[in-house]
Amino acid sequence: MKGLIIVGSAKVGSHTAALAKYLKGQFEDHEFDVEIFDLADRPIHQLDVSGASEPSETYKANMKDLQTKAREADFFVLGSPNYHGSYSGILKNALDHLTMDDFKMKPVGLVGNSGGIVSAEPLSHLRLIVRTLLGIAVPTQIATHDSDYNKLDDGTYYLANEEFQLRARLFVDQIVSFAKNSPYEHLK
Ligand SMILES: Cc1cc2nc3c(=O)[nH]c(=O)nc-3n(C[C@H](O)[C@H](O)[C@H](O)COP(=O)(O)O)c2cc1C
Repeated sequence: MKGLIIVGSAKVGSHTAALAKYLKGQFEDHEFDVEIFDLADRPIHQLDVSGASEPSETYKANMKDLQTKAREADFFVLGSPNYHGSYSGILKNALDHLTMDDFKMKPVGLVGNSGGIVSAEPLSHLRLIVRTLLGIAVPTQIATHDSDYNKLDDGTYYLANEEFQLRARLFVDQIVSFAKNSPYEHLK
């Protein structure tokens, strides 16, 4: 089983990326192979269906890699910071480069982080998008706040809040269960 965690923060070394890293460790405890695609580290170009712009080779390579990994994934986690009460445009742009063929009947977990008042609204908005892509957004989701993280000596964030660590384990268990027992294989 392969999973893909897409991180949609504009910041390299974001809280959302730290959460993704924690989740990856939990998936690995289930012997699931999970990759993190952090759009801050590996940016892709803005969707341009008319081909008016010429993206750089790096952007094109990142894009191709994202599309390959998405097609191969058995499940997803979508992670986003709260930007103006919703998920980031960076993540939406990435999703606009993908299709129903990538998501159809695959479990999708939703996670996010807010710097102001904690909000699950970005995740509710993402839930609608996942439905449109024919993915199955699992019920458990994770909405953290900056204060749920601490920094290592090198400045890297890590998820420090123990309640969220527990929730992360439940979240991962749920996705693992959906991925292993998909009743929808014949609909893919
Ligand atoms: C464009 C933009 C819009 C934002 N809007 C909100 C908001 O509506 N509510 C909020 O709580 N925080 C908002 N923030 C703050 C981010 O949620 C905060 O910086 C958070 O730490 C981002 O998480 P990250 O480190 O995973 O990127 C906004 C930040 C940016 C850059």
